[in-house]
Formats: sequence, structure tokens, C-alpha cells
Amino acid sequence: MTTSADFSITRRDLLMAGAASAAMTAAPSVANAQPRDVRSAVGEPAMSKVAITVNGQARELDLDTRTTLLDALREHLHLTGTKKGCDHGQCGACTVMVDGQRINSCLTLAVMHEGDTITTIEGLGTPEKLHTMQAAFVKHDGYQCGYCTPGQICSAVAVLAEIEAGIPSHVSEDLTVAPQATAGELRERMSGNICRCGAYSNIVEAITEVAGRPA
Ligand code: FES
Ligand code: FES
Repeated sequence: MTTSADFSITRRDLLMAGAASAAMTAAPSVANAQPRDVRSAVGEPAMSKVAITVNGQARELDLDTRTTLLDALREHLHLTGTKKGCDHGQCGACTVMVDGQRINSCLTLAVMHEGDTITTIEGLGTPEKLHTMQAAFVKHDGYQCGYCTPGQICSAVAVLAEIEAGIPSHVSEDLTVAPQATAGELRERMSGNICRCGAYSNIVEAITEVAGRPA
């Protein structure tokens, strides 16, 4: 026979038991959330061999697949002429040429360039024998601090190649005629290369001279 003693559990006991079970349900178990072995859960970095030609030299690198081309050049090949500005594709300081076309090296992974030919500022000229574009930048004071300059020069060389190939830009008015290296065309095509020193006018003069047009 059931007596009142069998129901001696109080309202307070019930509330405490309910609160405890609710807390256990809502809070994830810390022990369960942690992998037993963090290293095995995260994994070792995926490595890959990459064969590229840089400034005429065949190079083979063993890289974490997340390495950007910019970091491969600067940190692994110690070609520090190529600069890291924003590391987000916004300043152009990291511009190099890949198979003759300019590219923001911070926005591309090195492993994507297996077999490619890379030209950096070190591959354009030497202090003793400057590339024509380098000499023009010096002549026209196309820089102040010089941080953006390697990217500017690589970009400028590629820009003149684009114009020579007849590739129009956003400001080309007549798509049926070959574009010319006018100041407007050069400013538009170089607009991805930011110069915080504001050497833009002199940069345009330097490129114009190399293009063989009167400044
Ligand atoms: Fe690559 Fe700025 S560092 S665009
Ligand atoms: Fe200083 Fe361009 S020369 S940022």
C-alpha cells in the first residue's frame, strides 16, 4: 500500500534535478568536444613538390600546399625584391610575371604554378645592367621610398607588352584600333599598383619614355 512517505520528494528536489539535467543537455561535454589527439585531428600540413623556373633558373621546392607564390619567392627562395604590402590583392606591391603575364603573387598558391616561368624584379636587370624600365624609373624619379617600385616596374613591363599585343583596357575608346601608350591608358592599366608616396606622374613619364612616345 502506498503511503505519503513514498512521495516525500519535495518540489525543491524536483527543480534541482530538472535544472541539472537541462544543464547537462545544453552544455557540450568538454571532454567529448576535444579530440583525443589534436595533432591527428588537425593533421600534418599537406606538403607538395613544386618545380618552377624563376629568373631563368630551375627551382624545386617542397612546400606546404597553402604557401602563396609570394611567400615561396620571399621566404623559400629569398628573393625579397618582390614586396608584401597588403597580402590581399589590393596594392600590387607583390606583382611578378608568370609566363609573361603580371600577377599578384599574394593571391595565388605556389603549387598552382608547377612548370611555370616566373620573372621577378631580380630577373629583369642587375644594378650594373638595369632593365630599360628600371633605368627609366631612376631617370624620372618614379619612386620615393621605393617599396612599391619592384611591383610597379614588373607591372609596367607587362603593360607595354599588353599594349603592343593590342589588348584594350577599360578606357580604350575605339576597340577597332590598336591601343596606344597614352597617359590615360597607362594610368588605367597601372591602377592596380598603389604608390603611397604618390609618384604616379613620374611613373607615367618613365613608362612613356620606354614606350617611345613623347612625354
Ligand atoms: Fe599582393 Fe598587396 S601584397 S596585392
Ligand atoms: Fe613609396 Fe611608391 S615609392 S610607395
